[in-house]
Amino acid sequence: MFGKPGAGKGTLSSRLVKKYDLLSISTGDLLRQQIQDGTEVGKQAEEIMARGGLVPDELMLRIVTDKLDTLHDKHWILDGFPRTLRQGQLLEAHLQSRGTPLTLVVNINVPDEVIISRISDRWVHIPSGRVYNTSYNPPRVAGYDDVTGEPLARRADDDPETFTRRLQAFYNSTNPLLEYYGALANQEVVTTENVHQHPHQLLLDRPDKLVVRTVTGSTSDIIWPDLDRIITTMFPTLTPRASGPEGAQNTTPLAGVVAASEAAAATSSLK
Ligand code: AP5
Ligand code: MG
Repeated sequence: MFGKPGAGKGTLSSRLVKKYDLLSISTGDLLRQQIQDGTEVGKQAEEIMARGGLVPDELMLRIVTDKLDTLHDKHWILDGFPRTLRQGQLLEAHLQSRGTPLTLVVNINVPDEVIISRISDRWVHIPSGRVYNTSYNPPRVAGYDDVTGEPLARRADDDPETFTRRLQAFYNSTNPLLEYYGALANQEVVTTENVHQHPHQLLLDRPDKLVVRTVTGSTSDIIWPDLDRIITTMFPTLTPRASGPEGAQNTTPLAGVVAASEAAAATSSLK
């Protein structure tokens, strides 16, 4: 899931996780959690994020692949990674070595002026990454998370000055990365026959070519149906979740990831 800061990557990923049996990993949420926990990674990332810069590529790759390597038999979304050409190349090399090349890049394209007005209304529940907006998707009780009842916070990097720098960082890294994926999409992708795969991976319906799609719009009425159509067309066997209203918001992407890690640990302990 690719897009400007504030484009709605987190919001749309949450809707997909709520509707389908898949998991989402947001690098921004992972970093904010590391900062909150006071880890070494958190200490390194805190100052960079506060000024709207980008955390070093190799560190980001390690954070992401540590998570991905636990998700053998799952469909997943990456929200906010890769965001530099180098990250794209490192990710591709890693996924190819695992026999699970990337299948879909969705570029969520929202006009800058729409995004800037949204950011001043954004509130987040830092431990889960749940995102609210006082006008678009307000919490049931103002200032408090719907699920835990804990207080919501403004993100430290959502002040107008830092946000402008994040937008600039996006523009600096966007074109090379999108061109890279455009070129990959025109190449034949290594198929399941010529790469060793974990047995679980063979259960996934995996398109054999990378697809790049751009969804443009200012409102969820435009973006969500387009995105949903892309997902159902590309992954026809993706299972809708049994419970919960279709397309409902504010699930816990990180909780999904944690659940998957626990399931993987449980499976390996049974072997
Ligand atoms: P990260 O947390 O990923 O921030 P970002 O990319 O700047 O994106 P945001 O989370 O701000 O926006 P979003 O697209 O998720 O939008 P949202 O759904 O919240 O990264 C933060 C920092 O971490 C980076 O600056 C960097 O320092 C570091 N970092 C992270 N990944 C990195 C990497 N790979 N490499 C290096 N550094 C990295 O929506 C925004 C608002 O709009 C919300 O209030 C929402 O409710 C509202 N909204 C959403 N959709 C709609 C709609 N359709 N209509 C109306 N309102 C809507
Ligand atoms: Mg986000």
